[in-house]
Amino acid sequence: MPKVGILTGGGDCPGLNAVIRAVVRRLAVDGWDAIGVRAGWRGLLDGTFTPLGLRDVSGILPRGGTIIGTSRTNPYTVDGGVERVLEHVRTEELDALVAIGGEDTLGVAARLHAEHGLPVVGVPKTIDNDLSATDYTFGFDTAVSIATEAIDRLHTTAESHNRVMVVEVMGRHTGWIAVHAGIAGGADVILIPEQPVTVEEACALIERRHRTGKDFSIVVVSEGYELGFSSGERHLVAGEARASDQFGHARLGGVGEALAREIEERTGFETRVTVLGHVQRGGTPTARDRVLATRYGLKAAELVVAGTFGRMTALHGDEIVDVSLAEATAQLKTVPAEWYAVAKASV
Ligand code: F6P
Repeated sequence: MPKVGILTGGGDCPGLNAVIRAVVRRLAVDGWDAIGVRAGWRGLLDGTFTPLGLRDVSGILPRGGTIIGTSRTNPYTVDGGVERVLEHVRTEELDALVAIGGEDTLGVAARLHAEHGLPVVGVPKTIDNDLSATDYTFGFDTAVSIATEAIDRLHTTAESHNRVMVVEVMGRHTGWIAVHAGIAGGADVILIPEQPVTVEEACALIERRHRTGKDFSIVVVSEGYELGFSSGERHLVAGEARASDQFGHARLGGVGEALAREIEERTGFETRVTVLGHVQRGGTPTARDRVLATRYGLKAAELVVAGTFGRMTALHGDEIVDVSLAEATAQLKTVPAEWYAVAKASV
């Protein structure tokens, strides 16, 4: 029987289990066995696997996280890492690999395919929605829904106490979550990495609003927004540990706190901050993400059966297509100016 390995890498994300389930079930129809690679690329470095039969994937569709574990391991930064990965693909007798991940996990997949002919198909996962070549990644809709609900809830306190409420959302170096949740939640100011709005400009927006009789405001800030000032000074606020992972990413977080301090000092309005953090990645996927993840999984399985490797499943409009893995991971998909214009027009 031909055999497929499935791995999930990078941050966990709602919908991962839905993809795993779809791949296993669809490939079983064509007589394929499936095996889970434990904890992303680390499982192929160490040779750790877990069974993925039809029973193992039963009932996992609505479950958050990933039943096969994940990590931010990069075999290219480990001594002899690539050789170990290839060796375990051989010894485990994998005929194909489905890699479910974001730019880092899929970047490794693209490189292993290009340099070593690894028979791999990618599936685009990330709450950040920052992968090129697909309109949406799964997990994003859930994160936006969670952030929107939080903004709705924070409105109550903002209004009752006449406060400015700053909400820090994830998204790394792109502002997709901030823009979508900000529009959906009716935020008054939206700050994202792609648009260099200064602290002074943000304060002016809040003050103008308060002059018109609205004495509370909601500010949504993306964790990757650089705190910028009219003097030209700008800086990225990194988390306390300032740790970077094997892909060289700094750990972000904290800009909300710094921004709230600035707003309170400059405007005199009482300001509070809420950092949504990993809540945005937790729990059950929305119906939309379950459907998208399932469609991606089915498409990935079809590519495996057809022997079409080095591809990534993607959503174009309402159609599921496949695109080159190399192209999809070549650059980040940032929020275009037109999207930010919608956000600005809606506040
Ligand atoms: O890429 C998904 C993401 O949640 C980012 O939005 C965030 O910056 C990062 O992962 C957090 O990573 P970790 O879970 O390792 O703290």
